Amino acid sequence: MSTEARPAGSAASVRVGGERAGAAPAKQTGADDARFEATDVTVRFGGLTALSEVSLHVEPGEVLGVIGPNGAGKTTLFNVCCGFIAPDSGTLRWRGEDVRLKPHQLAGLGISRTLQGVGLFAGMTVLENVTVGMTSRAKAGFFSAVLGLPRSDKDERALQERAHAVLVELGADEFAGRYPGTLPYPVQKRVALARALVNEPQLLLLDEPAAGLGSGEMDELGETIKALSGRMAIMLVEHHMDLVMEVCDRISVLDFGKLIADGSPEQIRNDPAVLAAYLGEDDEGGV
Ligand SMILES: Nc1ncnc2c1ncn2[C@@H]1O[C@H](COP(=O)(O)OP(=O)(O)OP(=O)(O)O)[C@@H](O)[C@H]1O
Ligand SMILES: [Mg+2]
Repeated sequence: MSTEARPAGSAASVRVGGERAGAAPAKQTGADDARFEATDVTVRFGGLTALSEVSLHVEPGEVLGVIGPNGAGKTTLFNVCCGFIAPDSGTLRWRGEDVRLKPHQLAGLGISRTLQGVGLFAGMTVLENVTVGMTSRAKAGFFSAVLGLPRSDKDERALQERAHAVLVELGADEFAGRYPGTLPYPVQKRVALARALVNEPQLLLLDEPAAGLGSGEMDELGETIKALSGRMAIMLVEHHMDLVMEVCDRISVLDFGKLIADGSPEQIRNDPAVLAAYLGEDDEGGV
């Protein structure tokens, strides 16, 4: 692996001072401190540097796309942001505090993620799969806010109503009683997204949500992401350029483990370093 052929400092070409050009103004989410920032993140696998001092940030209500050719480090970066991988160096900052993320702590911190596969429980119905995504903290908050009562069968029904409402939002409520294995893959992916949304996260991390979807389903996914974007910050790791260009406010581009550009879709589309990185790549649609 070599980075020698890559134009140095190209990321700086689309930055303006400390601010990045093209950064969307923070939209109103009711939680304006819900800003995520990774600074100078380095990850090594043995002798291979998968990420080299990569920095990115996601503002409240913003959709950040993370793209790059195969092996660029996207999944590694996603895994760092989920707490699956502890970086060798660098810091993560969330809601104004430095954090060392662990996967089991994410939901409690207002962070949800979907993984590249679907990862649903085969022995549970769709509704149960979504309900199980609710953290005990979210449940407690939900009960005290809505009911103010100790748990009971009635409370459990209310919990299911919350899960049902999310399924309705994603157009998957008709499958509530079905088992995941009996459903088409795109529906399973919607259910997985519903499970990630049931806690009403402030930061949603999506790893290749369009993988395995047809073009119509991808359009629907794009609409869903746009609809969610005002409510939460979203980081979208994705190969499908059409989707990324359509839904992202800003895009960070990785190549050989380095951040080579960061800007608006229009800036990224025309960035020479990005075009060079993708040259010869058989990506879907090009940049
Ligand atoms: N667990 C690991 N052990 C060793 N090397 C790894 C590991 N995970 C990733 N790598 C290497 O780190 C680099 C970045 O990989 P990563 O999977 O993050 O790239 P990516 O951008 O997600 O690629 P793709 O588009 O193919 O999914 C690659 O060279 C990869 O081979
Ligand atoms: Mg990957």
